[in-house]
Amino acid sequence: SLKGQYFMPSKSGLSKAFAAAFAVLTVSVICGTVTMVVLYKVQMSGVNATARPTVPVTTEPPPPVLRLPRSLIPDRYELVLQPRLYTRIVREENATSPNQTLVFTGNSTVHFRCVQKTRSIFMHGRDLQVSGPVLTDRDSRKKIWSRVKDLDGESGFLELELDQDLEVGGNYSLVLDFRGQISQNLDALFLSEYQEEPEPEPGEDSGTDRFLAATNLQPTDARRLFPCFDEPDMKAEFSVTIIHRLKTTALSNTQMTVSNIEDDEWKYTRFETTPRMSTYLLAFTVSEFTPIISYTTDNRIFARPEAKAAGHTSYASHITGKILEFYERRFEIDYELNKLDQIALPDLYPAAMENWGLVTYQEGVLLYEEGVSSLLHKENVAGIIAHELAHQWFGNLVTMEWWNNIWLNEGFATYMSHFAVDAVEPTFRMKDTFIMNNLHAAFQEDALASSHPLSPPQEDIQTSDEIIGLFDSITYSKVRVNTAHGNSSNTSSQSGDSYQKNDLWNSIEMVIKYGLSVEQLMTPWITQEGFPVITIDTTNGEIYQKRFLYNNTAESRYKNTSLPAQSTLLLKKEEFISKDGEWILANVNSTGYYRVNYNLENWQLLLKQLETNRHLIPLMNRGQLIDDAFNLARAKLIDVTLALNSTLFLREEREFLPWESAVTNLHYFVLMFDRSEVYGPMQVSGPANYRCMMLIHNQVNAIWMACSNGLPECVEMAKLKFTEWMQPNGTNNIHPNLRSVIYCQAVAAGGKAEWEFAWDQFLSSSDTSEKVQLREALSCTRKIWLLNRYLEYTLDPDKIRLMDVASTIDSIASNPAGQALAWNFIRAHWDYIQQGWVYTSFLIEGVTSRFSTQFELDELERFAAEYELGSAIRAAQRAVEQTRVNIQWVKDNKDAVLQWFQAQSAAGDKD
Ligand SMILES: *[C@@H]1O[C@H](CO)[C@@H](O)[C@H](O)[C@H]1NC(C)=O
Ligand SMILES: *[C@@H]1O[C@H](CO)[C@@H](O)[C@H](O)[C@H]1NC(C)=O
Ligand SMILES: *[C@@H]1O[C@H](CO)[C@@H](O)[C@H](O)[C@H]1NC(C)=O
Ligand SMILES: *[C@@H]1O[C@H](CO)[C@@H](O)[C@H](O)[C@H]1NC(C)=O
Ligand SMILES: *[C@@H]1O[C@H](CO)[C@@H](O)[C@H](O)[C@H]1NC(C)=O
Ligand SMILES: *[C@@H]1O[C@H](CO)[C@@H](O)[C@H](O)[C@H]1NC(C)=O
Ligand SMILES: *[C@@H]1O[C@H](CO)[C@@H](O)[C@H](O)[C@H]1NC(C)=O
Ligand SMILES: *[C@@H]1O[C@H](CO)[C@@H](O)[C@H](O)[C@H]1NC(C)=O
Ligand SMILES: [Zn+2]
Repeated sequence: SLKGQYFMPSKSGLSKAFAAAFAVLTVSVICGTVTMVVLYKVQMSGVNATARPTVPVTTEPPPPVLRLPRSLIPDRYELVLQPRLYTRIVREENATSPNQTLVFTGNSTVHFRCVQKTRSIFMHGRDLQVSGPVLTDRDSRKKIWSRVKDLDGESGFLELELDQDLEVGGNYSLVLDFRGQISQNLDALFLSEYQEEPEPEPGEDSGTDRFLAATNLQPTDARRLFPCFDEPDMKAEFSVTIIHRLKTTALSNTQMTVSNIEDDEWKYTRFETTPRMSTYLLAFTVSEFTPIISYTTDNRIFARPEAKAAGHTSYASHITGKILEFYERRFEIDYELNKLDQIALPDLYPAAMENWGLVTYQEGVLLYEEGVSSLLHKENVAGIIAHELAHQWFGNLVTMEWWNNIWLNEGFATYMSHFAVDAVEPTFRMKDTFIMNNLHAAFQEDALASSHPLSPPQEDIQTSDEIIGLFDSITYSKVRVNTAHGNSSNTSSQSGDSYQKNDLWNSIEMVIKYGLSVEQLMTPWITQEGFPVITIDTTNGEIYQKRFLYNNTAESRYKNTSLPAQSTLLLKKEEFISKDGEWILANVNSTGYYRVNYNLENWQLLLKQLETNRHLIPLMNRGQLIDDAFNLARAKLIDVTLALNSTLFLREEREFLPWESAVTNLHYFVLMFDRSEVYGPMQVSGPANYRCMMLIHNQVNAIWMACSNGLPECVEMAKLKFTEWMQPNGTNNIHPNLRSVIYCQAVAAGGKAEWEFAWDQFLSSSDTSEKVQLREALSCTRKIWLLNRYLEYTLDPDKIRLMDVASTIDSIASNPAGQALAWNFIRAHWDYIQQGWVYTSFLIEGVTSRFSTQFELDELERFAAEYELGSAIRAAQRAVEQTRVNIQWVKDNKDAVLQWFQAQSAAGDKD
């Protein structure tokens, strides 16, 4: 799946579109996908082999507490499901209109084997009425008496009691009838609603409201659809039959085999048996959508008729086949199924879900409209499709045994998606921006003591909340394979006049470990949290490392001779360059998962080099040095002014990457200071001011940058363009790539009229990317009462769809004027906010990102202690720690930062 935030560009960050235009990166950060596939398999099998619970074979197992016993192993399900909803409410003459009905009914037959004698059957089943168990011994064809003993109790298990034992080696089948409710909360089998202009059929007013039903079962909602063994390693085949109303289309994971009209109301659609797969990957939809044939006829895209007619699906269909082909070549494994459907749903949370053969997307992440959607949006569409399609191998074909290894799914899918997009859309330069977009996000969370290891112990991840809490930035981003292992004796690769071997190499060589295997390299950082900072002292040649933490108080130092065995460090000569013994630079091209610190003298020489001739420092490292400096300063390992000094070379810098690094890092300063007196000098003399020069390169991007930093010329322009659009017969003449920033500035500078105009446009637009841009712009107003009104709107699903509530509150919180309002709001409405979607972690992270006072800390701690946080517990713990760090940081650095910016603006005035 994919978390929602992937999609919303951060207001303060820079767009990747900008990167595409500016970056001329020649660096291939990572290579070796074959190794990745092998590694993935190794990890999977290793995990399976060690984690399987061993139970003595002869005794009856105790009732399960959190995990199912492994006494029964499912082989195949035959599943019949009948969602009784209407996709439209037909108003025939005189007929009382039928009311919408959200019931679904069905029956399932599960065929299973017994591998351990037992007199009870434990399965999962939640929020279902289950009846009529018929248990058959398939070998003797005899019925066995059984009764539903417990359903939906404390344990969440469906328990059946029997009057005889099931014997080891026996084959059984169990038929159950069930009944449940289609959810209105985007989970399990859920309802989605949209508007369609009625076809002008004479005599029939069919209205414009349309409904569809779709599933979203990851991680633990299959049990709310039908009774099943709902754990990822309990894979089985599924033969699905959907009974649905006439004039609707049913889709599921596999090709349809038969579709028969049953009576004047219902139709049966039967699907081919799936390959063995996990329950969470099962999917079906019932809708009025009809297909658009894609690149190849087995790839179909489904969407609202209007979006389809307007061609908004054509970009997705254009790239899907190519991405699939790329993966087939790269993995040397064909796509397993004979069809792939992708469907754009009006409602879904998270952004997309990789169900095998039937990938579901929020409309906003699958649809692309030429001339309306921005380039950034196009990149997101490609990236998300590539992510979901990568899951067809990583996750669907090969699946983690238990949720503690969800990173294997998500990390690898994210990682692979960059290669796929790079192959299909080379101009996006996805691989190059990988570091900035993903790694640094993980670096940040990983620098907190409350970070979790990529692969926490199974016993820590048991309940649904614990499972859901794992879907965070670390899980999604901390995948990076350093392929530098083995044959690394080739030291003469440093060529060019200025790069020479330095005496320092000799001492460095002492700590270099050659020939670490991939497993040795990988194991430490999947089982441990955190990553190291390596400190190099050029005055005496010493190198040491320790875990990097923002709170740096209680960590021991390791001298060069005693690198700890669990070290994630792999240094080799290629990771260093130096200039004539003047300075040394480590982690060349940023290939390692670590930070580097130096003695002050070396830092200053590096910064001098950047200012005099930055080209001697590889581009990746120009970004990395800034990032390391800022983060080391946050950890109090270097002075904050040194970090600020590391941005001074940007005056000359033409490449995107170092800029992005600076802006991302200065974002922390913005968060800490945008409510204080430091912000004035910061705006005057910050790197935003260096940017004018960029105008000569690319007007659109320069305007984007200037505008997102609120330069007065831009604000004027934004107001003008927006006013033109607001005229009675006005049209929107704003360049697609600039819409989000211009809308935002115009709403920020405007008042009630601008806001209400944007709101009306939001409501009336049927174009999803336009809606996303407007929805975000509405949060830019500085008027408290409008922000409050907007927050209230998030409680009304007719105004803000449930799937958009979190990101809307998050963008309000990212506005300095809205942050306190949003914080109060989520506490006041926590029950509502929590019900609609599962990944509240991201919301907590966003709303607390400015917290830097004792008062805020007290409030946050009270919140963490008193509220039912569910899956957001970890996020709240992290926020508490981050707030403590922030308080200390502001206390330590405020004066120095203020002085630095004042000095810069004084110097700027002299120029
Ligand atoms: C770093 O990247 C540059 C540009 O791709 C390449 O020329 C250089 O060889 C790389 N250096 C190392 C040590 O990998
Ligand atoms: C609908 O009802 C009206 C009066 O109630 C009646 O005159 C008309 O024939 C009815 N139409 C149909 C199709 O039953
Ligand atoms: C629909 O619901 C309303 C009120 O809940 C009820 O009066 C009406 O009879 C229902 N109509 C049908 C066709 O069931
Ligand atoms: C399941 O339900 C369908 C439709 O009602 C019915 O045709 C079928 O016989 C049922 N299967 C079992 C095993 O009860
Ligand atoms: C169960 O089925 C398997 C495979 O069809 C078969 O080999 C086995 O003998 C069956 N068990 C019994 C007890 O008949
Ligand atoms: C940062 O640069 C200024 C001059 O621009 C210098 O005075 C100061 O010492 C530098 N700070 C550090 C920590 O190197
Ligand atoms: C808007 O356009 C309509 C027809 O296109 C025209 O009749 C009307 O006068 C225009 N209104 C304004 C304010 O220009
Ligand atoms: C840093 O960690 C120490 C030891 O765990 C703790 O006592 C201290 O409060 C922490 N400081 C901050 C700012 O979080
Ligand atoms: Zn995913």
